Amino acid sequence: MRNNKKEVDRRRTFGIISHPDAGKTTLTEKLLLYGGAIQQAGAVKARKAERYATSDWMAVEKERGISVTTSVMKFNYRDFEINLLDTPGHQDFSEDTYRVLTAVDSALMVIDNAKGVELQTEKLMEVCRMRNTPIMTFINKLDREGMAPLDILDDIESKLQIECTPLSWPVGMGKRFKGVYNLYKKELHLFAPGGETRHREGILINDLSVSTLDEILGSQADELRADIELIEGVADPFDLGHYLKGNQTPVFFGSAINNFGVKEMLDAFVETAPAPGSRASVTRDVSPYEEPFSGFAFKIQANMNPAHRDRIAFIRICSGKFTRGMKAVHHRIGKDVTFSNATIFMANACENVAEAYPGDIIGIHNHGTIKIGDTFSEKELLKFCGIPNFAPEFFRKVILKNPMKAKHLQKGLTHLAEEGVVQVFRPVAGNDYILGAVGLLQFDITMARLTSEYGVDAVYEPVDYHVARWVASDDPKKMADFEQKNRSNIAVDAEGARAYLTTSEWQLDYCIKEWPGIAFNKTREISEKDLLFQK
Ligand code: G4P
Repeated sequence: MRNNKKEVDRRRTFGIISHPDAGKTTLTEKLLLYGGAIQQAGAVKARKAERYATSDWMAVEKERGISVTTSVMKFNYRDFEINLLDTPGHQDFSEDTYRVLTAVDSALMVIDNAKGVELQTEKLMEVCRMRNTPIMTFINKLDREGMAPLDILDDIESKLQIECTPLSWPVGMGKRFKGVYNLYKKELHLFAPGGETRHREGILINDLSVSTLDEILGSQADELRADIELIEGVADPFDLGHYLKGNQTPVFFGSAINNFGVKEMLDAFVETAPAPGSRASVTRDVSPYEEPFSGFAFKIQANMNPAHRDRIAFIRICSGKFTRGMKAVHHRIGKDVTFSNATIFMANACENVAEAYPGDIIGIHNHGTIKIGDTFSEKELLKFCGIPNFAPEFFRKVILKNPMKAKHLQKGLTHLAEEGVVQVFRPVAGNDYILGAVGLLQFDITMARLTSEYGVDAVYEPVDYHVARWVASDDPKKMADFEQKNRSNIAVDAEGARAYLTTSEWQLDYCIKEWPGIAFNKTREISEKDLLFQK
């Protein structure tokens, strides 16, 4: 017990939640520069540009090599070892984006100063809320005109239902942006545009009434004084406990592109964000300090060579210590596996890993044997919870052009559903395959892989579903009645769970009111079948 304590406590595993264009890539790059993981600005950006130059499948295919390495970026900062898990956000927004958040210990929310809270951030926040993930906030692009800082905080509080506590406060914005005042260190940081790697120390100003402040900020000194007086009156003070429970978010202001305000936030992040904690399994909570190794798969990525069905499963380590060549049990299939060549993800490369600790992510090569949510552990039978399926928002019907390939289609879709590429539903009334996704690119990937890996010749047809919920009830009679009356809207997913598919949120709300006693779930947790630890 506890022989890995030092390593666990210095790890920070997090993801960034934001809406496209808020500045996630720019901020990531600055963080990696501080960590010394990349040498020059532009490295992450260049990859992103390549990635979005075209959205066709071949481009995605070529990009796989890169996206594997950018999926997890590991870097060191001060005494901390940081794992930054990428949350794909543009066209490649998908269930993976949600699932990454099931594998982090905290999140960083980036908000565009001019836009406030946007849709994708709201969606990702919902996922964070499922596990009460602590969230730190960076309000970006203060070098441009935007919303008044208090209005942004209001926007966050009302749309995301989380209390904001500013730890820094901006002095002006846009052309009048002079810098930020760090409220807990009582330091004024003056803004200088274009600072790629430079970082200037703050000026200690314990007492805002000093005349130095007027000399530095001119007429804006009084504005700052008034702002600080106001927020000290209205904002709740930082409370570590509230932050760790996901009820309060500390807020920093800055400009990622100018590398301004980033270091202060990073310092506060490593000091306050949680190290890996206990993780719930079906039977008990597993502490990271326990000696036996355990971990779970949260993402599966097809590798470069489709012919070999070569996959990398991303495993988040939850306890113990991973060592190269060690054995663990793959519980769902009841087999021992030897981890002879696990990969660890560095910011700019994949490396063979000799040892890894809770919070780290290792990549395990396999040929399609690992499913999302699979648990690996050294001794005890464990099944980690909290890696659900998320209700799809887009749907397509698959039309097979060559009926001789029906078996291939079934096999392909089963595999792709297990990998989490797409969700597969079969209506109880009919033989169709209805695919569901949270991002449209998932359909392109599915079709390209069905063709290239399974020899399936098929096309999509639109289908008039826009909402899905998994349905369940404690009352079997009620459930049977519900199914009977809504037969044309009931479908069974790849794990045999029943879902209600419908045309609109309005229809869903109507149905929910009509059927008290039936639960309509936005996520589906592990199935009964998994709970049996089948051998
Ligand atoms: P994302 O990953 O969240 O999608 O955002 P990304 O970092 O790519 O940033 C989106 C745009 O916002 C980029 O501009 C980027 O340069 C800009 N940006 C990021 N941080 C700041 C900031 O602090 N201030 C200002 N003014 N702009 C910022 P772009 O025009 O889309 O790309 P580029 O031509 O600059 O590369």
